[in-house]
Amino acid sequence: MQITSFKQYEEDYKKSVENPEQFWGEVAQNFQWRKPWFKVLSWNFSEPNIKWFEGAKLNITENCLDRHLAANGDKPAIIWEPNNPEEESVTLTYKMLHERVCRFANILKRNGAKKGDRICIYMPMVPELAIAVLACARIGAVHSVVFGGFSAKSIADRINDAQCKLVITADGAYRGNKQIPLKEVIDDALIGCPTVEKCIVLTHIRTPVSMLKGRDVWWEDEVKHVNDICEAEEMDAEDMLFILYTSGSTGKPKGVVHTCGGYMVYAGYTFSNVFNYQPGEVYFCTADIGWITGHSYIVYGPLSQGATSVLFEGIPTYPTPSRFWDIVEKHKVNTLYTAPTAIRSLMSFGDEPLNGKNLSSIRVLGSVGEPINEEAWHWFDEKIGHGKAPIVDTWWQTETGGIMISPIAAVTPTKPSFATLPLPGIQPILVDENGKEIEGNGVMGNLCIKFPWPGMLRTTYGDHERCKQTYFSTYEDLYFTGDGCLRDEDGYYRITGRVDDVLNVSGHRIGTAEVENAINMHAGVVESAVVGYPHDVKGQGIYAFVIYPEMHGEAELSKKDILQTVTRVIGAIAKPDKILFVSGLPKTRSGKIMRRILRKIAEGETSNLGDTSTLLDPGVVEEIIEASKNL
Ligand code: PRX
Repeated sequence: MQITSFKQYEEDYKKSVENPEQFWGEVAQNFQWRKPWFKVLSWNFSEPNIKWFEGAKLNITENCLDRHLAANGDKPAIIWEPNNPEEESVTLTYKMLHERVCRFANILKRNGAKKGDRICIYMPMVPELAIAVLACARIGAVHSVVFGGFSAKSIADRINDAQCKLVITADGAYRGNKQIPLKEVIDDALIGCPTVEKCIVLTHIRTPVSMLKGRDVWWEDEVKHVNDICEAEEMDAEDMLFILYTSGSTGKPKGVVHTCGGYMVYAGYTFSNVFNYQPGEVYFCTADIGWITGHSYIVYGPLSQGATSVLFEGIPTYPTPSRFWDIVEKHKVNTLYTAPTAIRSLMSFGDEPLNGKNLSSIRVLGSVGEPINEEAWHWFDEKIGHGKAPIVDTWWQTETGGIMISPIAAVTPTKPSFATLPLPGIQPILVDENGKEIEGNGVMGNLCIKFPWPGMLRTTYGDHERCKQTYFSTYEDLYFTGDGCLRDEDGYYRITGRVDDVLNVSGHRIGTAEVENAINMHAGVVESAVVGYPHDVKGQGIYAFVIYPEMHGEAELSKKDILQTVTRVIGAIAKPDKILFVSGLPKTRSGKIMRRILRKIAEGETSNLGDTSTLLDPGVVEEIIEASKNL
């Protein structure tokens, strides 16, 4: 199933469009099924209703673990690199990982979990996080991993939306020189989560934690009561595998649902091809398992292909900005998959952190999460890849399950800041505001996908209508990505960024409405409007215009109060970079905030604000411009 030449890519692509069922049916043969499918695909985008590999039975962990045991049981599956480089790294072979997943799966059962139950995971980047994820899949429970940067309230909202029965967490996490009290955050969250019966707590940093009798149990104690034999639950291809919450332009985050069969095939196929993974190579993805990149390209994709996946607990700049390069050297990393924001942050330290580092093992580089600017692309290419490692700029989304538009390493000619061409099976089209297809090359438009692929979301948990409205109703019979896109003269795709009210801050997706709601929860705030602005390292920064007539003390302190509120309501990742206090917001006569104007002001543009004649009170714009000059 691995593409080795551009000609083969073209042939496979053609086949995947002309005969998708045959194409994916053949790809799926490379995986292990307990029972074959009777139909590869049935679909419509109007409801939407999408089924891949109907009738097939499998368990994804048999593909990620059991099937490698005979030939590759002693091969490293996970290499864990701790936050503190002085501590030993840990290698888990496929055999060891299999054993630990089975043990933990038995712990889950012992604590009442069964097929179909939802389980929330809130953990540091330690091997036990991957073990917890796989153990859920082993018994057919649905995991909902929540990134460690979210607040108690955000966790509680997610737990309640999915009605989780269990929570898996740790006492705390290390992040550079900080310690994060995960269990304490969970304790706060669980005050408002009536469905949670049990909480399993891993000891990691050994910080004091409260353990509620009858609800909380220690991971280490539970291990003593179970053995390592746990037969995998037989799952239907379309049974739910996991829920992952993600932000949109309106309302609360949505629980994107992925199912077992199609997701497995798509994550495995794209991993093997995009990175051109070769047996025995070491692959390092720097994402957190709390995001989709970690699900698909730290856990499921690499393990389904018998790869060695590095799992890193720390951050790129701790203890020094050489940390990534030290890890590459130490573990002889062949593929490094990271985010533009990390590249830009490391670039800012100059060449010094690279001095004396041996990066010769690197064969493939990857980028994900946001558009990569040309400067960062070239730095990555020259300084890290020494001009010899292809860069795969991979465009995809939580909803797509896997990489959609990307070069295939060593196959597709790359072009700085271009995601290049669609992978086999992916049919992108650009449309104008009215949904009319923009054909030809050298054009720009809104990016949609017109045909299903196995890794796509099936629904949003508990609210199918929302899935339909968000993704399938903007343009008839198309999946709308929310991204703007350029197709150049060569037919190469370049993603230009979101066209909706979603921000991309350091590769994290944040809805402006969510941040506004959080700010508005602060006592005394009357109204707020949030927009993004270009930020050198983060890609986008968060700029908040806030009406707060009776501030509590000085303006600077009041800003800090607001940041505190946002941290409580969403988490530190959503804190505005800039807050501007204003007495009014530019609104149309019908009461709609004109964000276009605020975006320009946030970008530092004070003239050419476009048509302001429809504003209720044009004077307010002048006032905001003046105030913004002093920020
Ligand atoms: O705007 C696109 C941007 O990230 C969004 C998806 O965010 P999320 O669901 O959190 O998934 C991130 C990791 C897959 C997209 O709608 N995005 C992601 N990758 C790229 C990108 N923008 C430009 N180039 C990329 N390679």
